[in-house]
Amino acid sequence: MTQSPVIVALDFATPEAALDMAAQLDPALCRVKVGKELFTRGGPGMVEALHNQGFDLFLDLKFHDIPNTVARACTAAADLGVWMVNVHASTGRSAMTQAAEALAQFAQRPLLTAVTVLTSFSQQELSEVSPGEVLAERVSRLASLAKDCGLDGVVCSPHEASDLSQSLGSDFALVTPGVRPEGTAAGDQTRIMTPAQAMAAGSTYLVVGRPITQAPDPVAALNQINLTLGVA
Ligand code: C5P
Repeated sequence: MTQSPVIVALDFATPEAALDMAAQLDPALCRVKVGKELFTRGGPGMVEALHNQGFDLFLDLKFHDIPNTVARACTAAADLGVWMVNVHASTGRSAMTQAAEALAQFAQRPLLTAVTVLTSFSQQELSEVSPGEVLAERVSRLASLAKDCGLDGVVCSPHEASDLSQSLGSDFALVTPGVRPEGTAAGDQTRIMTPAQAMAAGSTYLVVGRPITQAPDPVAALNQINLTLGVA
């Protein structure tokens, strides 16, 4: 298992392109993340191919449904042997608790994390769906609920990591996208931190996509991030 906190987001339109990228990466130096687009195209075969390459895999499908469906979907992910799977915290206490209980049946279970509020969400957008609610308070409340339900951590912005790591403790994993090494393009991410800043703020795992996958030399880009974090 890798010592690196980096999870490379394999955001590619085809399984072939994702597998080509993965073939350049060393599973001793990073993990990989498969999201909705790639899974919808490549399915469980995609997961199996990445496992065969030796990677720990985060299946980022953000389940949000009735409790029975969420728990069964998490069980299906565990059957695939993934390292991490996630749900939306707003799917609620029953769904998160049942998902955690379902995974507890596995001798080697995936980590179960929850998305609090999507980092793309603005206060204005939140107010449209939940009038009167303050974004930072919603993040904190949903993260506490996820911990209470027995989840292993949350997906959050690195800007929320400091408060959450203090209130929820260092055993509760904080998975943070929105990470940009010094000198790389922010793209559509607005609230960004460098890898070192995000780790110092309390992140446990860093989700990094384009700064690695779109770099002229992805391997060098990953190595440089690991170097700044003191990971060989
Ligand atoms: O290319 P980039 O580093 O911005 O990729 C970030 C990855 O993290 C993408 O796969 C994106 O979908 C995911 N993500 C995010 N914000 C969240 C949850 C997931 O950027 N709140």
